[in-house]
Amino acid sequence: MKDPLVRFGVAIEGALLRDLDGLARRRGCTRSELLRDLARAEIARSRVPAGVEGVAALTLVYDHHVRDLSEKLTELQHQLGDDVRAALHIHLSHDLCLEVVVMHGKSDRLKLIADRMLAMRGVKHGGIEIIPGVAAPARARHHHDDHSHPAHHGDHAHDDHRPAKAARRRAKAPGK
Ligand code: NI
Repeated sequence: MKDPLVRFGVAIEGALLRDLDGLARRRGCTRSELLRDLARAEIARSRVPAGVEGVAALTLVYDHHVRDLSEKLTELQHQLGDDVRAALHIHLSHDLCLEVVVMHGKSDRLKLIADRMLAMRGVKHGGIEIIPGVAAPARARHHHDDHSHPAHHGDHAHDDHRPAKAARRRAKAPGK
């Protein structure tokens, strides 16, 4: 049986309402639909129970010049072992790195490790999205002899932290 909709009054600043209506227009939905979506998402986020298996995406923006920070972040990821399913590292600017880490495991453990990373000095922005009740498929095992790890800052020269230029140079490189 369909749950009937309930009408209620909401007090909201004019500017915020205009922004909300603008977002609803861009998404092609009504103000009510958007508010229901936002409410559902926020309630789901608040309800992530401890000890439940799930997947998570952790986003970090950090200053790689801060002493030992890159090593500490890598160390924590290694503690998770195979529960780290993928990691993406992008050199945003001379100082800043963006890292997105996809993890799997018990929600409270993922949250704890994420909170420790996010609290580190030099981590400027970030957050974690945990989706409970979803199991990530087992990662295909591959040989990892050289231990080349994209997140290991020792493996690439951060003095040359100009990825966009380097990428353009590569794109322009002649040959097949
Ligand atoms: Ni970097």
